[in-house]
Amino acid sequence: MITRIVDMKLDIEGLCVRSRKASQNPINNLVSFSAPCIEMKFVIASTGFCLCCGSDNVEIFHPLFKGGLCLRCKDNFTETLYRYDEDGYQSYCTICCYGLEVILCGNSGCCRSYCNDCLNILVGRGTFDSLKHVDPWICYMCQDHRTHRALLPREDWSIRVQQFFANNSAMEFEPHRVYPSIPTNLRRPIRVLSLFDGIATGYQVLKDLGFKIHTYVASEICEDSIAVGLINHDGKIVHVGDTRCIDKKLKLGPFDLLIGGSPCNDLSIVNPIRKGLYEGSGRLFFDFYRILQLLKPKEEDHQPFFWLFENVVFMNMHDKVNICRFLECNPVLVDAVKVSPAHRARYFWGNIPGMSRPIAASQSDKLSLQDCLEIGREARVTKVRTITTNPNSLKQGKNVSLLPVLYQSKEDNLWITELEKIFGFPKHYTDVRNMNRQQRQKVLGKAWSVPVIRHLFAPLKDYFACEELSPSSMPSPGTATSVPLLM
Ligand SMILES: C[S@@+](CC[C@H](N)C(=O)[O-])C[C@H]1O[C@@H](n2cnc3c(N)ncnc32)[C@H](O)[C@@H]1O
Ligand SMILES: [Zn+2]
Ligand SMILES: [Zn+2]
Ligand SMILES: [Zn+2]
Repeated sequence: MITRIVDMKLDIEGLCVRSRKASQNPINNLVSFSAPCIEMKFVIASTGFCLCCGSDNVEIFHPLFKGGLCLRCKDNFTETLYRYDEDGYQSYCTICCYGLEVILCGNSGCCRSYCNDCLNILVGRGTFDSLKHVDPWICYMCQDHRTHRALLPREDWSIRVQQFFANNSAMEFEPHRVYPSIPTNLRRPIRVLSLFDGIATGYQVLKDLGFKIHTYVASEICEDSIAVGLINHDGKIVHVGDTRCIDKKLKLGPFDLLIGGSPCNDLSIVNPIRKGLYEGSGRLFFDFYRILQLLKPKEEDHQPFFWLFENVVFMNMHDKVNICRFLECNPVLVDAVKVSPAHRARYFWGNIPGMSRPIAASQSDKLSLQDCLEIGREARVTKVRTITTNPNSLKQGKNVSLLPVLYQSKEDNLWITELEKIFGFPKHYTDVRNMNRQQRQKVLGKAWSVPVIRHLFAPLKDYFACEELSPSSMPSPGTATSVPLLM
């Protein structure tokens, strides 16, 4: 069984979670508290104690296992649950989101890790050492859901994770204005403003869903990305350049939908020299906010107006809270792994009806890597980790050098056409301007996952005109239009 000592250099928000000594480990409260009696730990897990540190000051439920989380552990959990290391595995323990030494699940496609403290305290003394000899060890979330002494995986964990992230800024906001759906004969083609448009994923999804598009105005500064949008969509996208230059004077609009995911490099906690929300590219969030204020309809205007803002999950809590304050809502978390072969957890803020409904794969979604490979190539993993602009992000497994494909008896990297398929784009979508492999991964690595955006946009069909879709291009069951209209 593979174990790993986690990188001890980083520290998060003053909580020295990686470099702490045993005495600093919050879970040690549990050690001294519960060591004599395993039944006592059972009580801890199932009653009002923080599963991470043993504090009885419980703020919220633990989304994956029976038990609670205190405020401090909740904040830490939010920042670290979706943080992955170079080897593709969770940086911190699935249970406590701390953990100095962790054991990794051997189930292909599972990226969970479990720390020695949690295993020894909650499951039983010596568990960690004994599991080292089990190969492969299939983790508690991947086994049938049953009790392991004090560790009780929740049956409904995937819904609870959504609820957890939906509410984790602990802020209450007024519900969004609700627009009644529009009778079919009155629906008009949609008018879209897409900020930070990248490779026009928004346009691709609207087209896939059969929307009639009146206008699609895109703001983007990367020439390669702009070319991808122009060439794939027959020049129908109107490009207006830098988002910072968009103001009333340009006389753009009116619009029905504003979308955008601003650059994440200064927000993502993966970047040790990030500048945060108020400096560098982080500030571009405020251009989204500014343009949202420009476009928001007045109270007396009944024409529906929708918006969607996206960013990474692993950002500082205070940056996230500030985004929530400005946008006046909490985000929903959607992970593309549910509808594609790649992990990609992202936050979405917005007022599109039904955004927080659970995401489910449709028949046409490619869920395993094998479904996305060219003929004669064999997948070595079912799911790949989050694909970024960094070529190394394509390497998989406990051993970072594992390439995800076997081809002609040798290990091989993903081809770009395969990457395009993993993201849900048509084959050769990024094959423009003679871009090389690296440039194509660069624009894809920043993009949205097509099936995720399809899930979010599908409810707009109740408001805007659509083409009659031929049976072969019908939206699959997962994208049906009859989604509940309540958020
Ligand atoms: C996270 S990516 C968004 C990708 C997009 N959602 C997609 O699916 O391809 C952010 C994009 O913002 C663009 N960008 C950065 N600064 C910008 C600016 N000042 N104005 C417009 N776009 C900008 C980047 O080139 C990048 O393509
Ligand atoms: Zn705690
Ligand atoms: Zn742990
Ligand atoms: Zn597992």
